[in-house]
Amino acid sequence: MEIRFRDTSAERIKTGLLVIPVREKKLQESEIRALDRGLNGDLRARIQKSKFTGAEGTTLLYTTAGLLPAAQLLLIGVGGEAEIATETWRQTGARARREAAAIGAEEAALFFAPGQNVENAAAAVVEGALLAAYQFNKYRSNSKPAAEIKFLILFSPGLKQTAALQRAVDTAQATVPGVFLARDLINEPPSVATARFLGEQAERHCRGRGLSVEVWGKKKIETMKLAGLLAVNRGSHEEPRFITIHYKPAGKPKKKVALIGKGITFDSGGLSLKPSKAMETMKLDMAGGAAVIATMSCLPKLHLDIEVTGYVPTTDNLPGHNAQKPGDVIQYLNGKTIEVLNTDAEGRLILADALALAAQQKPDYMINLATLTGACMVALGTQVAGLFSNNPALASALLRSAGETGEKLWQLPLVKEYKESIKSSVADMKNIGGTHGGAIVAALILQEFVGEVPWAHLDIAGPAFTESDNLIGTKGGTGFGVRTLINFLSRL
Ligand code: BES
Ligand code: MN
Ligand code: ZN
Repeated sequence: MEIRFRDTSAERIKTGLLVIPVREKKLQESEIRALDRGLNGDLRARIQKSKFTGAEGTTLLYTTAGLLPAAQLLLIGVGGEAEIATETWRQTGARARREAAAIGAEEAALFFAPGQNVENAAAAVVEGALLAAYQFNKYRSNSKPAAEIKFLILFSPGLKQTAALQRAVDTAQATVPGVFLARDLINEPPSVATARFLGEQAERHCRGRGLSVEVWGKKKIETMKLAGLLAVNRGSHEEPRFITIHYKPAGKPKKKVALIGKGITFDSGGLSLKPSKAMETMKLDMAGGAAVIATMSCLPKLHLDIEVTGYVPTTDNLPGHNAQKPGDVIQYLNGKTIEVLNTDAEGRLILADALALAAQQKPDYMINLATLTGACMVALGTQVAGLFSNNPALASALLRSAGETGEKLWQLPLVKEYKESIKSSVADMKNIGGTHGGAIVAALILQEFVGEVPWAHLDIAGPAFTESDNLIGTKGGTGFGVRTLINFLSRL
């Protein structure tokens, strides 16, 4: 899909589908009046008959029958806000794309007059239009590919195509393939998406200027003493992998960032076996790792002058004959020990290795993404990720980036008093706390492995996966985190 900007008006533009966002009860705007004149007053009549008011999510499709240069006209209700929010532009882009595809238009032209935040709004429209086309049809016998749309025109009288506008759109276009990659990796069945597979996918997709990939097998993982990853892998027939992806910019890097993603390719719980219902979606447990691989894969196109290293420890968590047992103790490379009382609290065990390893490089920031706790879903539901951080500046930068991309993120506290609950009778700590505050306890355990490095942890257990379709995605993996991370990195 090619994006173009045009300085023109609604009644003059020649296109397959002309899309006009309409604010609620604002049907007297000049562009609508001009269109109505061109249509001899019939548009007004149709609006009245259909009771279209511009309420959010409603649409009205009108065939212009040759009276306007545009073949079809789509009014999209955007609701009552005074200023249309970035998220509204994203949804509008998605709706325009779906409608264009439905009527077989190769081109859509959207009336684009955001007032302020022009760059954010343009990026959002483009993102919405691209994200709306996602499908995962590999395992369907009756699938049809998404209808192509060749051009998306953003226009309004006086619209200027500035360098900043072009950059915002380029970033959106460079990001969406990453979101799709993360979704594809998550949606793949767990017996296909093994640790080895994730390693291969990282090698395949993380290519291009400045990127390099290293995938460690079991032997190397043993030499490097990644004890948590080995402990979780013990119950499995599949070998673990430790994936490192490195991006080095052409010039001297301004900042050094480490991204760490949980890569549990299937979480059965191990010997602390989950009930069957809770296991149904557990192929999603590598969504953090998928987001890291996908984000890294986008970097060559973004030309950022920061150094980024992605770390993905990956294995499945199964109850094999050699599986780790409740009561076992793991000793980590930084000397710390964890008593494993519940083998289903495995994410923290493999992230500890990666965090300790990444911290040795003394990055400016360390960010990990993990489908870590059901408790975070209890707290924030399925749409919002939890944010934990030892650094207020990093936390607010991430909240800002999430806000701009429409990914929902909410900060939760690292309550140090709760460390009391992870005291072990034999080791430095145990891997679970008491009955309450499970998301916080998990974050506190991770914090033990980051030292003094500014660090943030995103618990994406809720938004990594969705059970319902929406305008910018389908059921299944969402690719949550990729857009926030890229926005964050672009702003450093
Ligand atoms: N992968 C799960 C967390 C999860 C649950 C993600 C639901 C997405 C949806 C994690 O490994 C886990 O099992 N956590 C346990 C921790 C508990 C044993 C302390 C949990 O949340 O129940
Ligand atoms: Mn688990
Ligand atoms: Zn898990």
